[in-house]
Amino acid sequence: TFDPGSYSTLKLDLDEGILTLTVDRPEALNALSQQVVSELWKAFTAIQDSCTHDAGWPVRGVIVTGGGGKAFVAGADIREMASMGPDSAAEYARSMQGVTLLIEKLPVPVIAAVDGFALGGGCELALACDFIYASEAAQFGQPEVNLGLVPGFGGSVRLPQRVGLGPARELIYTARRIDAAEALRLGLANRVLPSRDELLAAARETLQEIAGKAPAAVGLAKQSIAGATGRPTNQGLEAEAEAFREAFTTDDMREGTAAFLEKRKAAFTGK
Ligand code: CAA
Repeated sequence: TFDPGSYSTLKLDLDEGILTLTVDRPEALNALSQQVVSELWKAFTAIQDSCTHDAGWPVRGVIVTGGGGKAFVAGADIREMASMGPDSAAEYARSMQGVTLLIEKLPVPVIAAVDGFALGGGCELALACDFIYASEAAQFGQPEVNLGLVPGFGGSVRLPQRVGLGPARELIYTARRIDAAEALRLGLANRVLPSRDELLAAARETLQEIAGKAPAAVGLAKQSIAGATGRPTNQGLEAEAEAFREAFTTDDMREGTAAFLEKRKAAFTGK
């Protein structure tokens, strides 16, 4: 059994191995207050701890979404930031950056299901997920310069990685909002679905498809990509060779290759 703990700003719902994590502060369009950030840290740490063979891999994929119907996450909490000094602001940025790193290190895939506003820290939270599915009502943007701010939860790093330097600079300097079709065109979103229900169903379906694979291999693939991103080619290749080596230590690799040669379906155990 998986006990993620209890939360006041998040909802966690585990259904057949797929955990839906909803940031649920609709009165502030799910803005990432310091409390939300600390609860995200707690939730992703609990998920991380459960991603082992001994724990039975109770969580095989995570959907991150927003509650209330209007927003994914409308950013960092502007009300809280208005009275912060530089040092507490830096601490705030580092604590949410820590959450984004936890998400990237999680050995299971995480899909951001964006319905409504994903602005500032909301766009940055989505960018920390493995990929983004959007509803037609999604709106993305990095509006920090409208507030005299700059992205603080990873946008300066991950937005250029995702869409390229030119489009990232334009989005960040102009604070323009883009719709789902434009996000798809830029490669920010992988898919656009007509409604929230279809969005969540599509994310679930993809995670279930991935859950049919060897979990350690999926985790190593994720680790390998993260280990290569932003690094020189030789270091990226070194991270890949290390992950490749690690795969050969698993039972599932023996099973997967044997099943292929014996022309049968692999029965993965997660070991
Ligand atoms: N922080 C705190 N409260 C927020 C918020 C935020 N980021 N976004 C919205 N809210 C609150 C509003 O203040 C409002 O509260 P009240 O009802 O108490 O007045 C409530 O949520 C509903 O919002 P609106 O009435 O503004 O809703 P709208 O539909 O008219 O507008 C919106 C929606 C365009 C998303 C607008 O709310 C908005 O522009 N929000 C701010 C978006 C933004 O600038 N985000 C970036 C924050 S900076 C950042 O994230 C820095 C970083 O990288 C770390």
